[in-house]
Amino acid sequence: MAILDKHAILEKNVTLLAIFAFLVVTVGGIVQIAPLFWLENTIEDVEGMRPYSPLELAGRDIYIREGCYVCHSQMIRPMRDEVERYGHYSLAAESKYDHPFQWGSKRTGPDLARVGGRYSDEWHIQHLRDPQSVVPESVMPKYGFLENRLIDGEHVADLLKTHRLVGVPYTDEMIEAARADFRAQIDPDGDIDGLLARYPKAQVRNFDGQPGISEADALIAYLQMLGTLVDFSTFTPVPSR
Ligand code: HEC
Repeated sequence: MAILDKHAILEKNVTLLAIFAFLVVTVGGIVQIAPLFWLENTIEDVEGMRPYSPLELAGRDIYIREGCYVCHSQMIRPMRDEVERYGHYSLAAESKYDHPFQWGSKRTGPDLARVGGRYSDEWHIQHLRDPQSVVPESVMPKYGFLENRLIDGEHVADLLKTHRLVGVPYTDEMIEAARADFRAQIDPDGDIDGLLARYPKAQVRNFDGQPGISEADALIAYLQMLGTLVDFSTFTPVPSR
């Protein structure tokens, strides 16, 4: 009883209550958050994840600019219905090069974390032009204009540099070759050895089938890469060290 009586003192004094509540929240907060700063790895590494290629990164910028994340998430939860529909649940490491991350908070459309390879490039072009022509009940807006907007990659090296600033391990070599790699990814007849050495599994082709590099090329290169970097047929979760 005695301790409860003392608690009554707190409950009847607003200032004391505020001070003690503040203390409790502070200590609780520190206990929860502080260890994260000292843990060796909060993100388990997985084989296959690599920084995005210059074309994919440019596509990701367009994805963000157009607000695709407003309707699409990129985070498959470990629940059965999600795993059956979308594939293996998302790993933290799969978004480790995402600044900002694209987990999203609303699914007006499906999750896109593993959309890479699910459809052909032609499907994507048709779907971006006129979503209702492939999925009649779709509420997705039309993005056909992306095909007509050419990008020359003038600033793509700066884009890589910016991502390096926030922790993506782009090397000097990658930044130097950024513009060449940007162009090489839509030209299967070009010199792509360097591109593939720097960005394994990068898909090289003319995504929109039209001359020049358009915003649609970049966006589709990004979409076709999503979820394809980690090979889940050989993936086994390793306990964190
Ligand atoms: C207003 C909400 C909305 C916005 C904004 C939106 N989408 Fe969608 N999206 C949908 C809906 C709804 C569907 C499901 C019907 C369909 O396939 O069109 C969909 C489907 C898709 C699919 C097919 C996914 C699958 O697994 O079948 C892709 C790919 C896609 N959207 C990409 C994009 C991209 C890229 C952008 C930005 C340029 C975008 N969406 C913007 C609503 C949206």
